Amino acid sequence: MDRNIRTVDDVLALLDGLFAPEADRWTGRGADWWDDFYTDRSRPVPFFAARPDESLVAAVERGVLRGGRALDLGCGPGRNALYLAARGFDVDAVDLSSTALDWAGERARETGAENVRFHHGDAFALAGEDLTGPYDLVYDSGCFHHLPPHRRVSYLALLEQLLAPGGLFGLTCFAAGAGGMGSELPDTDFYREGAGLRGGLAYTPEALREIFSGLTELELRRMRDEPEESERFGKSFLWTALFRRA
Ligand SMILES: C[S@@+](CC[C@H](N)C(=O)[O-])C[C@H]1O[C@@H](n2cnc3c(N)ncnc32)[C@H](O)[C@@H]1O
Repeated sequence: MDRNIRTVDDVLALLDGLFAPEADRWTGRGADWWDDFYTDRSRPVPFFAARPDESLVAAVERGVLRGGRALDLGCGPGRNALYLAARGFDVDAVDLSSTALDWAGERARETGAENVRFHHGDAFALAGEDLTGPYDLVYDSGCFHHLPPHRRVSYLALLEQLLAPGGLFGLTCFAAGAGGMGSELPDTDFYREGAGLRGGLAYTPEALREIFSGLTELELRRMRDEPEESERFGKSFLWTALFRRA
């Protein structure tokens, strides 16, 4: 008989099990799923191109982001991490997928980037181990919306642990009501229905403000669509947000 639940971590691990990759290959996104996702680099995935988020570039160009230590959460093939490194940030970048990180490493060698370190693994497990704050910037483009609802607890704890006082948190995630990217199911239904994460979670601005209410909002807007030939990435089905820690 299992009577193993004693700590908050035990509860989080139990809930993780409801979203285990082997339970549903399409909706449960573990490292294997992401490795497969990145194997064919020629697929027309918008964020496969080596161009940074338009919102990140805009914040750097406005002088809101001025260098220091940055952490890219769920960095994938490293497009934002490498942009930040090229702008003089000292960057740690973490991802579950070794296939994505191999690609990121190749890009780093091609561009001669030195001040970037790619870490393989679960960001929550590595926080305080390989990833030691304080960071002046924690940046997340597309990772947060792939986390199951209960992992927001861990996400906020990670920000609390790693983001410097006065530091900035940048987020890009699926927007609710934007035409189908990301599920709009209420949190409880993901647990009741047991059908995985359905390709990610869409958020309303109110939900984001509530979740990150411990931080000060500097910007929360739809991302601007960028044309294919642009040097920047932008899709208007995404929110882009910038918060400051007091
Ligand atoms: C939609 S992709 C975005 C990749 C990259 N940020 C970009 O915009 O090009 C989401 C990434 O988050 C990573 N990821 C998801 N959960 C993670 C976790 N717990 N720790 C580290 N990386 C994670 C996935 O492996 C995947 O590469």
